[in-house]
Amino acid sequence: MVFIDACFRKKTPYTPVWLMRQAGRYLPQYMKVREKAGDFLSLCKNPELAAEVTLQPVEILGVDAAILFSDILVIPLEMGMELRFEKGEGPVFPKPVRTMEDIDALYEFPEERLTYVYETIKLVKKRLPKDKALIGFAGSPWTIATYMVEGGGSKSYAAIKKKVYSEPEFMHALLIKVAEAIKAYLIKQIESGADAVQIFDSWASALEKDKFFEFSWDYMVEIAEFIKERYPHVPVILFPKGIAGYLDGIYGKFDVFGVDWGTPMELAKEKLGDRYVLQGNLEPARLYNRDETRVGVEKIIEVMGAKEGHIFNLGHGMMPDLPVENAKYLVELVHDLTRR
Ligand code: CP3
Repeated sequence: MVFIDACFRKKTPYTPVWLMRQAGRYLPQYMKVREKAGDFLSLCKNPELAAEVTLQPVEILGVDAAILFSDILVIPLEMGMELRFEKGEGPVFPKPVRTMEDIDALYEFPEERLTYVYETIKLVKKRLPKDKALIGFAGSPWTIATYMVEGGGSKSYAAIKKKVYSEPEFMHALLIKVAEAIKAYLIKQIESGADAVQIFDSWASALEKDKFFEFSWDYMVEIAEFIKERYPHVPVILFPKGIAGYLDGIYGKFDVFGVDWGTPMELAKEKLGDRYVLQGNLEPARLYNRDETRVGVEKIIEVMGAKEGHIFNLGHGMMPDLPVENAKYLVELVHDLTRR
C-alpha cells in the first residue's frame, strides 16, 4: 500500500494523499446516506452505512487511504455521557464532567461497547481495494476531555483551564481514564483491520507550552508507544493542531507527524523532518478556489520534494461547503506533480 509505505519512508511511485474529514457533508452522496440513517450518531452506529460513507471518498476523489467514519466523541458517549449533535451548535454534553465523582461514574471500558466501530472496519476492509489503506483514529485524551468538561465546543476553554491551573489532579485522573480507554480502543481497531491509526489533538493550541506537554502530548506519546510496542508494523500518526511554537519539544516513538495549516511546512521540516514523516498541510479554505489550490499544492511540494518523507493532506478538516470538484483536482494534482 502506497500510503503505508510512505508512513515508513519507503520508496513509493508518488506522494500519497488523503484529506482529513474527507467523508462528510460536502459530498451529496454522504448527505443521502445520512438521511437514510436518520442522524449523525445513528450513522456512526450503523456499520453497513458507516462503511458506505467511509468508502465514498476513495471512490469519488481517488485518495490513497480511507479514514474510518466515526467520531472522536464516541468514547465519552460509550463511557455513559449523554451526547447530542445540535444543528449549528455542534456536539453538546448536557451534563459535563466537573467533579471526581463525575469521573468515577464514567464507565471504564467504553471499548467493549464500541463493537459497531469494529464491525464497520471489517466491512470496509472487505470492500476496500487492496492497494488502499484504512486509517483508524481516536481523539487525544486532552481534546476529548475539553468536550467532556466544557460540555461541548468552546472558544475560551474557561472551565477546563480552571481545572488545569487549580485542580491538576482532577485533570490527570480524567486524562488517565480516557487514555486507558483509547489504548484499548485503538488496539481493537487494529485487530479488526485498521492499517494505521491517527490521534487528533484538535485543541492542543488551547494550552501554553509547558501545559501542552504535561496535559496533552505526554499522553499522546504514551498511547503511541503502547501501540508501537504491540504492533510495530502499524503506523501511528499524531496530529496536534496549532502548536508551531512548540515543535522544539516534540519527542516520542511514532511514525508520522501531522502538520496543521498554521505551521509553515519549512519550519516543520527543519525541526522534525529527519525524525518523522510529515503529513499535511494545505489550508482547507484554498479549496474554495482552484488557482489558490494549485499555488498551495505547488508550494508544499516544492518544500517537501517529490520524494519520501511526505504524505499530502489538508492542514485541518474539509469544510461542509467546499466544492467536490476542487478536492478531486487536488488529489490528481498531487499525484501528477509527484510521480517519480
Ligand atoms: O475524517 C473523516 O472523514 C472521518 C470522520 C470523522 C468525523 N469526525 C466525522 C464527523 C473524524 C476523523 C472526526 C474527528 C473529530 N470529531 C474531531 C477531530 C478532527 C477535527 O476536525 O478537529 C473533532 C474535534 C470532532 C468533534 C466533532 N464532531 C465536531 C466538533 C462536530 C461538529 C462539526 C460540524 O461541522 O458540525 C462533529 C460532527 C461530525 N463528525 C460530522 C462528521 C462528518 C458532521 C456531522 C453531520 O452533520 O453529518
